[in-house]
Amino acid sequence: MNFFFRLIYKVNTLALACILRGILLDNWARDYIDKFPQGTIIDVGVSLNTRCERLNNDGISYFEIDLPDTMNLRRKLVNEKSNRKFINGSILNNAWIEKVAATNPGNQPCLFIIEGVLQYLDEKKVKKVFSSIKNNFPGSLVAFDLISPSMIKKSKNAANTSLSKINAEFTWGLLNPLDIHSWDKEYKIVDVKTYFDLPDKYLDREFNLIQRLVFKFVPYPVKMVLLKIK
Ligand SMILES: C[S@@+](CC[C@H](N)C(=O)[O-])C[C@H]1O[C@@H](n2cnc3c(N)ncnc32)[C@H](O)[C@@H]1O
Repeated sequence: MNFFFRLIYKVNTLALACILRGILLDNWARDYIDKFPQGTIIDVGVSLNTRCERLNNDGISYFEIDLPDTMNLRRKLVNEKSNRKFINGSILNNAWIEKVAATNPGNQPCLFIIEGVLQYLDEKKVKKVFSSIKNNFPGSLVAFDLISPSMIKKSKNAANTSLSKINAEFTWGLLNPLDIHSWDKEYKIVDVKTYFDLPDKYLDREFNLIQRLVFKFVPYPVKMVLLKIK
């Protein structure tokens, strides 16, 4: 496995990975909007992400949640609108629930996008996030990126990476997203994607043909997961 990590770390910059995962998660968001044109998307740990601009859809309600420092910076750069609201605070506190629920009176399934966030939490907190969604927004979808335990290990041993520079640490990951089924019988993984599910035009510059073939067959250490909470 180390060989594959060396390969990936060589070619796969953090920026590239963020762009590719963003494309995959945007695709699920578009699928959701097609099904629920007046639905609600909640972007958790949004930071300075521009997904709402990329989706460019006024029919849906869009909530963006982040910790106060980050959200205060976001507010300097981006404006709220009647159907686009910012929420200051942690997803682990329940204050956000009331704000989102107030705009979803028909109890439509929501889409939660949790990108680049869960890998920094411990498993107990990840379970708390999912169970808050289950208890308050049943029927919703949760789209998130999932890293493997070996990637966590690798990140701890790697010096001078972008993670070590910002004092952040990967703490949660799973090799098999289906393990989440054992957490709750109401949880159903409905889709899993890796970068290699994207059309070749997105991969050509960074991954050669051999690398692309290899990652069709070995478990790639980053996956995008779509979870349905019944
Ligand atoms: C690596 S950034 C990801 C940003 C964005 N989702 C993206 O992928 O472009 C992680 C973000 O999650 C936020 N975050 C961390 N813990 C959080 C929590 N408990 N509740 C809400 N946001 C949180 C951080 O403040 C940070 O902005």
